[in-house]
Amino acid sequence: MRIFASLSIAALALASFTAASQTPLAPKARPAKATVALTPPMGWNSWNYFAERVSDKDIRSAADQLVSSGMRDAGYVYVNIDDTWEGERDASGVLHSNAKFPDMKALADYVHSKGLKIGIYSSPGPKTCGGYEGSYNHETQDAQLYASWGIDYLKYDACSFIQQVMEKKAPNDKAEQMRMMRAAYAKMDQALKATGRPIVYSFCQYGMDSVWEWGPSAGANLWRTTGDISPHWDRMYVILNEQAGLEKYAGPGHWNDPDMLEVGNGKLSLAENRLHFSMWAMLAAPLLAGNDLPDMKPEIKAILTNRDVIAIDQDPLGKQGSRAYSDGEVEVWTRHLAHGAMAIAVINAGDNRYSTHPFHLNLRKLGLTGPQTGKDLWTGKTVKLSDNEPLELASHDVLLVRINAPKAPGK
Ligand code: GLA
Repeated sequence: MRIFASLSIAALALASFTAASQTPLAPKARPAKATVALTPPMGWNSWNYFAERVSDKDIRSAADQLVSSGMRDAGYVYVNIDDTWEGERDASGVLHSNAKFPDMKALADYVHSKGLKIGIYSSPGPKTCGGYEGSYNHETQDAQLYASWGIDYLKYDACSFIQQVMEKKAPNDKAEQMRMMRAAYAKMDQALKATGRPIVYSFCQYGMDSVWEWGPSAGANLWRTTGDISPHWDRMYVILNEQAGLEKYAGPGHWNDPDMLEVGNGKLSLAENRLHFSMWAMLAAPLLAGNDLPDMKPEIKAILTNRDVIAIDQDPLGKQGSRAYSDGEVEVWTRHLAHGAMAIAVINAGDNRYSTHPFHLNLRKLGLTGPQTGKDLWTGKTVKLSDNEPLELASHDVLLVRINAPKAPGK
């Protein structure tokens, strides 16, 4: 469970990170990181749909579909290969891809030729979660290899590092284990930086050791805050709730990652897909689609390419939203946006709340006074919200409103 005890240390770490990131540097000396993930990364990742079945062909086809569906133009630029691309190391320790990925450089060139970027996956441990070759003791060599292929993004997944390195080397010393984890992530950061190539660095260690407190100073552009997502309402809702309180750690170049999107996967209803996408946008989460792009239904494409919702996620202020309050089975979240704008999301988490029990919105709890005019981002219509406004939401559905000129007390 999360421990918020060492907040002062976190504040110091964050302050020094912020100070460092504001230090003016000559363009050549500027770390590559300063140029990536200024807004949450957007793209597609192979894991949620293909898992270990993914091949070169699927990655090429995903790249093609990102272009033809209009997703690339809506902002989805990273095509990320997750676990199971790795082959064996040769006598010099150089890692080769396996038979499913015959030529990584050619694949990267193909993805780049579509105006997209390409991501890859590894582990600080000897093995990845799928049991493939990890980067343990080969960090520099692997980072150089990725750069030589033209890789733009690395997801670095703890996996076997926990049992085979941390727990073996420091069996009864949790503090030492966590120091080892931080060092392992920082080591790959140095290796990536040394390549001189701007590579988005994504930590995946499921939120251990309150990673949001130390991830940015270890080079993270994003860090997973939770265990794995799955295409089920219950799991998505648990993850959403785990994000409350983490908003202060996110900002341009360093984001909380509540895991990749399941929009269009499993048996999620349309309302659940809308809610999932809306809330990940409210959370300033990376938007990495994880569905079968060649088989995408029009209503799923409409969700993933809703430009108004994407604009909430990608808002240049980079301020993650937070839960303003909850009332029974309804939750109200707000997000402050650039130029004084605001987004409000109201969600019905109940399985069978019905319309004779409308929810009454309390604008004062959102720091607003008087009627507010905004845009409903799923219908595109203008809405007026008054204090105590009765709202009827279907089960697991969301009302997402953008208010460009919110009226607060004294305004
Ligand atoms: C872990 C990660 C997933 C995925 C798999 C691959 O479970 O959390 O996102 O990368 O490993 O093996």
